[in-house]
Amino acid sequence: MNLATLDLVRLQDVPDLDQETVLRWHRAHLNPALITLMQLGGYDEVRIERAQGPYLYTRDGRRLLDLVSSYGALNHGHNHPRMVEAARWFDERETADLLKEFPSPYTAALAENLSHVAPPGLDAVFFCNSGTEAVEGALKLALRVFAGARDRFVYAEESLHGKTLGTLQVTGREKYRRHVPRFADWPMVPFGDTQALAAAFAADRERRIAGLVLEPIQGEGGVVVPPAGYLCAAAELARRHGALLILDEVQTGFGRTGTLFRCAAEDVVPDVLCVAKSLGGGLATIGATITRASLQRQAYGRINECLVHTSTFGGRARSAALALEALAVTLDEDFAGRAAELGAWLKGELEAVRAKHPDVVRAVRGCGLMLGLEFHPVKLSGLASPLGAAGLNRIVDSYFPGIFGAELLARHDMVASFMLNNPRVLRIYPALVATRADLAPVPGAIDAVLARGVSRLVAERFAGAVRRVGVKTIREWLKDW
Ligand SMILES: Cc1ncc(COP(=O)(O)O)c(C=O)c1O
Repeated sequence: MNLATLDLVRLQDVPDLDQETVLRWHRAHLNPALITLMQLGGYDEVRIERAQGPYLYTRDGRRLLDLVSSYGALNHGHNHPRMVEAARWFDERETADLLKEFPSPYTAALAENLSHVAPPGLDAVFFCNSGTEAVEGALKLALRVFAGARDRFVYAEESLHGKTLGTLQVTGREKYRRHVPRFADWPMVPFGDTQALAAAFAADRERRIAGLVLEPIQGEGGVVVPPAGYLCAAAELARRHGALLILDEVQTGFGRTGTLFRCAAEDVVPDVLCVAKSLGGGLATIGATITRASLQRQAYGRINECLVHTSTFGGRARSAALALEALAVTLDEDFAGRAAELGAWLKGELEAVRAKHPDVVRAVRGCGLMLGLEFHPVKLSGLASPLGAAGLNRIVDSYFPGIFGAELLARHDMVASFMLNNPRVLRIYPALVATRADLAPVPGAIDAVLARGVSRLVAERFAGAVRRVGVKTIREWLKDW
């Protein structure tokens, strides 16, 4: 192969690539099944050219309201002006970004600032590049703290802590762990159930449990807020058992739920806090495992242990610089206060919509701007379908929020997705920079979709999906359900 004569794509030509080519390359080299899933909902036809604040702008002139915000990674919205400026400022300095042999002032400053905003006593930080790594870091830290004497974790059903091999051990959804070997049979408990948790600890007579891993509000599980007092009770149970409480605030962190971290609203101080997503302000890829210095010392305090847990890109100077600015914006613009106020208003509006359609919408869940619309199970009859009633019902039962989201995209210029672990909940996570005016059309749009009637919605969306992918593809999809 002569590398010099290869016809490679030039960066500068990418914006002008036609959509057909983009889809072809995605199918050929990335995740073809994901493109099919996008095609079912018409997402493959949308070409995003620009993104600003809570909006996405398409090549053909549409403005879409983003109600996904990259699952909570875009509290700052897209391309927040201060984030864009911070990136420019950092790049113009031409300082070293990737350098592990010398202490970085940016990484030091970010850790210092995080130690001020984290729950009391959490002042030791490990930087990584994603949410799953932040949780992996927490699990490994706990295992090392107990130096092999404890080697298991309690975790919750329907939790999602990442998709790498370690976090899959504590992720409570079988779909993601099929064919993945288990380290051991670690206790999984229903989320929000204090008695079940107490029983799991009580059953551990040999004291093998090193930690309890929880999301303070389950995100992908369907925006599940546990009963009041659950987190406090969980913290106390872990403490009495001598195990660490690991809270995963990857999704709930940095203002999303109405306080900077959800654990503050519950008056709980974990032993380890995992963050990522909006730590980077939408422009940096960064996560962090934050704990007490004493635990950090126990795990990695000796000189010959200081390289036992590292990451080439983790805490690189550019990411730390951007995260410094992201945190400043989070506080200056009072994201937590905005989420609390706007969230209370939006939830109230969505409750009013639910009251008009009680047979379809079961509940409005969540707090702050971490909201979800829960639907009743949808059962249709009398709809003609090439898949037969059972096939169609199976799809509708598992993907109704996806169908709903496709309608919001097609007719209302809104992007809202389903939750990974709950087929009945539609995600509503706007950017925390959104104003009431930005969000004002949301309840009306949801009401309008509901008012068209579930049967009509499903029939039309299904016909569109069949047109785009063909009935054969859908039949194959159903086969390995
Ligand atoms: C609560 C929670 N923890 C961890 C993760 C994993 O984060 P990442 O996708 O950055 O690995 C997610 C992802 O959505 C999440 O919601």
